[in-house]
Amino acid sequence: MHVTRLSLSQFRCHDRLELALPPGLNVFVGPNASGKTSLLEAVTLLVSGRSPRTNWLREMIRWGADQARVEGVFAGATGSPDEVTVTLTRSGSGEAQRDLCLNGAPPASVGAWLQRLPVVLFEPDDLQLVKAGAKGRRRFINMALAGLRPLYLDDLLRYRRAVQHRNELLKQAARGRASGEDLAPWTAQMVRAGAQLMADREWLVEHLGPRAAALYADLSGGTEALELRYRPNVQAEEEGLPERMQAFYEALEAAATWELRRGSTQVGPHRDELLVLIGGKPARDFGSQGQQRTAALALKLAQAQVLTASRGEPPLVLLDDCLSELDGSRQRHVLELVGQFDQLLLTTAGEVPAGVEVAHQVVLPPA
Ligand SMILES: Nc1ncnc2c1ncn2[C@@H]1O[C@H](COP(=O)(O)OP(=O)(O)OP(=O)(O)O)[C@@H](O)[C@H]1O
Ligand SMILES: [Mg+2]
Repeated sequence: MHVTRLSLSQFRCHDRLELALPPGLNVFVGPNASGKTSLLEAVTLLVSGRSPRTNWLREMIRWGADQARVEGVFAGATGSPDEVTVTLTRSGSGEAQRDLCLNGAPPASVGAWLQRLPVVLFEPDDLQLVKAGAKGRRRFINMALAGLRPLYLDDLLRYRRAVQHRNELLKQAARGRASGEDLAPWTAQMVRAGAQLMADREWLVEHLGPRAAALYADLSGGTEALELRYRPNVQAEEEGLPERMQAFYEALEAAATWELRRGSTQVGPHRDELLVLIGGKPARDFGSQGQQRTAALALKLAQAQVLTASRGEPPLVLLDDCLSELDGSRQRHVLELVGQFDQLLLTTAGEVPAGVEVAHQVVLPPA
């Protein structure tokens, strides 16, 4: 998929901006604070309805303006292009109102619209994917699966709701105000949804792992090996759903006293880990900054490749300022991967390495 036209009005620091973008590598160059990240944020808003950097829609409306508007035309391998418009309107001191329009009408459901326009964004913060705790890696897995499996988000929400209810009841049970019987239906729901989550995650990491390893080898020149390992919090001997459910029940039974004491659910996929190893050692503890950055990039690009394989067409790839900490040869390797994707939008405050074929360059003036 690629974006052919992008138009911003009163979005962040942009007053008005109209861009026609070809497939291939598009580079947005400009000094700090010239609005490069904001441009990619606008594309993300179009495909997901959200900003990758804030939970507040109103922050994206230009200061002093009442309404921001972003329009984009997305072309896929088949079918006619999709025209998407997002309008954000300030409303008093509260959150802005968001209006979505897909080909002239509000989309039937947000879920369907999310599945329609596949985009992978790499941002400087993604370093945390490797460097920080397991939560960020679970989030990455959740986001990746949400774009790949239509039912994953439903299972995840069902799981979380069941965990919440269980936790509430566990706290009450500690004070003698709830019994095991009250807990049972939520435990059943949690185990069913949780077993499905584990199966989906196992599937994802199986597909992600070899690709991320190959990408990492490419990017690093093949001197170090990257390995991904899914570490479900509940380990089952076999991979079928019934076996996973059985193992989950057994783990809960073993943790029962502990759960009552803590007043919360102590085992389950909300505690899963995705191990990222470089040369057999956890990248989180032993990787250099450059290695961690390369590993994060390999993970995201692998996600884009899995999306390509499952949808039969590559997603749009957005790379925000991700070259700065890589050495020259890693930078060139990243940009050589462009050929795998329909289109890649890249921002940089510096220069694109020599010898890389740029389809289109947009120079943003200083703010
Ligand atoms: N709602 C808003 N209205 C107007 N300006 C804003 C708004 N939100 C942010 N800005 C300004 O927009 C500018 C551009 O931010 P952006 O992050 O897009 O720049 P950038 O080109 O990516 O910079 P860098 O190279 O440092 O990453 C910032 O100076 C910021 O203060
Ligand atoms: Mg930026």
